[in-house]
Amino acid sequence: MPPASTLNRALSRQQESEKRAYELAAAVTPLIALEGLHVRFPVGRMVLRAIDDVSLSVAPGETLALVGESGSGKSTLGNVVAGLQAPTAGTLRFKARAMDAAVRRESRRAIQIVFQDPFSALDPRMPISAIIAEPLLIQRIGTAAERRDQAAALIEQVGLPRDALNRYPHEFSGGQRQRIAIARALAPEPELIVADEPLSALDVSIQSQVLNLLRAIQRARGLAYLFISHDLAVVNHLADRVAVLYLGRLVEVAERA
Ligand SMILES: Nc1ncnc2c1ncn2[C@@H]1O[C@H](COP(=O)(O)OP(=O)(O)O)[C@@H](O)[C@H]1O
Ligand SMILES: [Mg+2]
Repeated sequence: MPPASTLNRALSRQQESEKRAYELAAAVTPLIALEGLHVRFPVGRMVLRAIDDVSLSVAPGETLALVGESGSGKSTLGNVVAGLQAPTAGTLRFKARAMDAAVRRESRRAIQIVFQDPFSALDPRMPISAIIAEPLLIQRIGTAAERRDQAAALIEQVGLPRDALNRYPHEFSGGQRQRIAIARALAPEPELIVADEPLSALDVSIQSQVLNLLRAIQRARGLAYLFISHDLAVVNHLADRVAVLYLGRLVEVAERA
C-alpha cells in the first residue's frame, strides 16, 4: 500500500487532468455561433419576427437538433446558418471569425444543406453526376475529371449504384433522391450539414434507412449536424443537444441525458 499522501496526490492529479479535459471540451471553438440574431420579414405593413434574439452555437462533430412547431422559425434559422438568408440583426461567426468575404467563402464550402423535399431539391434536367458535382463546380474545386471521380465515390457512399450517375432525378424514388441530395451536400467535404426535416417527406418505411445513412456518414466523417425535426423519436436517436424554438425565440437548449 503506498502512503495516503501519495494516493491523494495521484487522485488530485487525476482530478486535475479530468478538469483540464472538461475545460478543453468546453473551450472548443464552435463551427458556427449565432449571437442576438434577428430575422424580420415585412408582411404587408406589418413586420413578422421570424427569429427573435436567438443565440446558439454548433460544435465540431456534434448534432444539435432544432425542434419547434410549424412556423416557429426553424427553416429560417437553418437558412441563416447555411448562408441562404441574411439576418436582420445580430452576429454570425464561423470558427470564431466574423463573416467577412473570405470567411463567408470558406463557410459556404464548409456548411451545406439538405432540404425536406427531395423532389424539388434536384434539377430535373441534370444527370445525377452533374447534380452531385455542382457545388464543386460552383466553387471551382478540382478538375472536371476529379469532380466526376468524386461524384462516383459519393454515389457509392450513399448506397446507390454507380450507374445512377448517368440517370436523371425522375428515375428515382423519394428516398433515393434524398440520398442523392446528401451526396451533393457531402461533395465539398463540409464540416456542418444543416438538415431541414430531411426525413419528413419520405415514406415511414425508408425514413430509418436515411437516418442510419446520416448517422453512418457522421461517424465516418466526424461532421456536425444542425438537424431540424419535429419528430422527437428521431431527435432522441440522433441529437447531442436539443434547441427548442417557439414563435422565433429560443426557449430551451437541453443536453442529452
Ligand atoms: N420569405 C418569407 N417572407 C415572409 N414570411 C416568411 C418567410 N419565410 C418564412 N416566413 C414566416 O416566418 C415564420 C417562420 O417560418 P419558418 O422558418 O419556415 O418556420 P418552420 O420551419 O419552423 O416551420 C413563419 O411565420 C413563416 O410564415
Ligand atoms: Mg420548416
